[in-house]
Amino acid sequence: MPFVQPPTILFLMTTAEKVYRVLKAEAPGYVSGESLALSLGLSRAAIWKAVSRLCQMGCEIEGQRHHGYRLVSSDDYNELEIRRIFTEKVFFFDELVSTNDEARRLVNAGEKAPFVVIAKKQTGGRGRRGRSFFSPDGGIYLSIVVEVTAETNVESITTAAALGVSNAIDSLGFDTQIKWVNDIYLSGRKVCGILCEGVISLEDYSLSEVVIGIGVNFSSTDFPAEMKDIATSLYREGEEKISKAEFAALEVKEVLSALKDPAYLEKYREKCFILGMPVNVISLKGEREATAIDLDDKAHLVVRYEDGKTEHISSGEVTIRPLY
Ligand code: BTN
Repeated sequence: MPFVQPPTILFLMTTAEKVYRVLKAEAPGYVSGESLALSLGLSRAAIWKAVSRLCQMGCEIEGQRHHGYRLVSSDDYNELEIRRIFTEKVFFFDELVSTNDEARRLVNAGEKAPFVVIAKKQTGGRGRRGRSFFSPDGGIYLSIVVEVTAETNVESITTAAALGVSNAIDSLGFDTQIKWVNDIYLSGRKVCGILCEGVISLEDYSLSEVVIGIGVNFSSTDFPAEMKDIATSLYREGEEKISKAEFAALEVKEVLSALKDPAYLEKYREKCFILGMPVNVISLKGEREATAIDLDDKAHLVVRYEDGKTEHISSGEVTIRPLY
């Protein structure tokens, strides 16, 4: 049996977590054991135990006889940080096969949306059209589960999610663009992929939830040879301007806000760089040359084929066609 890490749920706060939050707020300064004990209503022995637990969890904490404790450093992408920063319900894992798979499993086990599943790496990350998604340490892999109600515009979820992630990245000073339908590009290379999947209710066979799976190359630069020229990362390792936990929270906030934005389509259109470009339309029937000419009001891509006929594409894929 493989070891399955129990998930971390946001709302239960342990003593170690309470101590972590105080030390983090005061870092790199010292906090005396006495004031920790007083402010948290705990004994000095309980504080000492919590500090030991934090050290086991990867925090470096210095203890000085007359000064108390101080947080020297900690891995900023851990369950303590995620739980400190997120306001949404989050399940955090060091490793998963796929966050989308885990999100569906949780829904089927009765977990109520909205919630988020995050993994530091994936061993079987899935991409669109049955492809795999390269998911080593250094990327941010998460799935946002939203409930489908009578008001939900299901068709807009994929494009609105792309706008949300693009906005999150751009708020850090980047200038991303979107390749229809939901690939995010930075300086001509893919920096993020999104896979939206529906969950069907077994009670009435209706669509009950949507899982929005997002993979961002944050500081993963070790791409395999076949990806080197087409993929990029936001940062090189060690040059990050924001922690992974903070970026993940920002991403979730921007996606949830784009899903509610009545003007999302206009904003999406401004970022969609393939309009006017020659493309190959890939469908079950094969590949066909066309020009991408517009987005309709459902965010379907309007393409014109060489015979002059137009088509509104709602799913499938287009690749950009070089003109030589
Ligand atoms: C694509 O570019 O083809 C879509 C890639 C989607 C990858 C994300 S990473 C988080 C979530 N879990 C998965 O297994 N896939 C999505």
